[in-house]
Amino acid sequence: MKQRILVTGGTGYIGSHTVVELQNSGYDVVIIDNLSNSREDVVDSIEKITNIRPAFEKVDCLDFQALENVFKKYDGIKGIIHFAASKAVGESVKKPLLYYRNNLVSLINLLELMPKYSVDGIIFSSSCTVYGQPDILPVTEEAPIKKAESPYGNTKQINEEIIRDTIASGSPINSIILRYFNPIGAHPTALLGELPNGVPQNLVPFLTQTAMGIREQLSVFGNDYNTPDGSCIRDYINVVDLAKAHVVAMDRLLNNKQLERVEVFNIGTGNGLSVLDLINAFESSTGVKLNYKIAGRREGDIEKVWANPERANNVLGWKAEVSIEETVKSAWNWQLKLREKGIQ
Ligand code: WQD
Repeated sequence: MKQRILVTGGTGYIGSHTVVELQNSGYDVVIIDNLSNSREDVVDSIEKITNIRPAFEKVDCLDFQALENVFKKYDGIKGIIHFAASKAVGESVKKPLLYYRNNLVSLINLLELMPKYSVDGIIFSSSCTVYGQPDILPVTEEAPIKKAESPYGNTKQINEEIIRDTIASGSPINSIILRYFNPIGAHPTALLGELPNGVPQNLVPFLTQTAMGIREQLSVFGNDYNTPDGSCIRDYINVVDLAKAHVVAMDRLLNNKQLERVEVFNIGTGNGLSVLDLINAFESSTGVKLNYKIAGRREGDIEKVWANPERANNVLGWKAEVSIEETVKSAWNWQLKLREKGIQ
């Protein structure tokens, strides 16, 4: 029998790619999403790619009763992947209570329901943002957690603690915390990708929208950092590679292979790329010229961060595989598809 997994935020950017990989690996998936930052037709796209239609319920994780009804309706959920969260750093500074409520209460509700419905484990989407500017690069999971730069970042730190405290108190569940670096790109079929609300804040959607002519010009935020070309460095991880990390993590959770009740893994490539490197990779792999200028620094930006992914490589047996060229090309193909569909 297929094992049943609940994916919160399963119509979102990373969630939808993960549902595809879970179904391809033989899991039975139930998606819940409040559709605050995604569209229900993502379920059709998942079906097109995998030939399997995942169950979908429009549910907000803040609504405890509606959430409990999902566990009653779909018997035998064994694992949860919790993506559903608000994720705009700038917005979180303006609306901290919204972020604390959405991101903390959703997790609390799930953790409360898990023992009652005999759910074995939960994978939590954390972020490299918990490291702030690391003192040592590449950064390992042992690096100290630095004070969060934003309410959004703080919710990731607090949620990690909520999971640890709950399990330490004797809750009969296990957890894997995945700290994502910078997820980019789209599904190779161009049927799934990132659909930003309004003006994109993240680099790649802004870049592809500029290349498309939706935005006039991309601003490179700073060229006076202490990096080889002066622009910031990040570890850009392909979204399908990232999705696959969740499948191996779920296998580990459900087969009791964990060495500790809570395990943490960096999910990155191990390669740092500057903003200018990324622009060059985009131009050379797509042949599209990008209109960009060097602008001032963006407040709150980390100068450089990239992962040491060895623990994920060795313990999970997972490794990032897709090249940066292929990844930016997939983001571009997705942008072309959005135009074709008249969405953006
Ligand atoms: C990447 C680089 C910018 C836009 C944030 C969060 C993180 C994660 C992803 C979740 C930086 C530069 C960007 C632009 C630019 N959270 N840039 N011009 O800041 O690394 O991470 O988003 O959703 O938790 O902190 O990602 O894509 O915004 O920026 O030059 O128009 O691109 O300065 O160096 P970031 P990003």
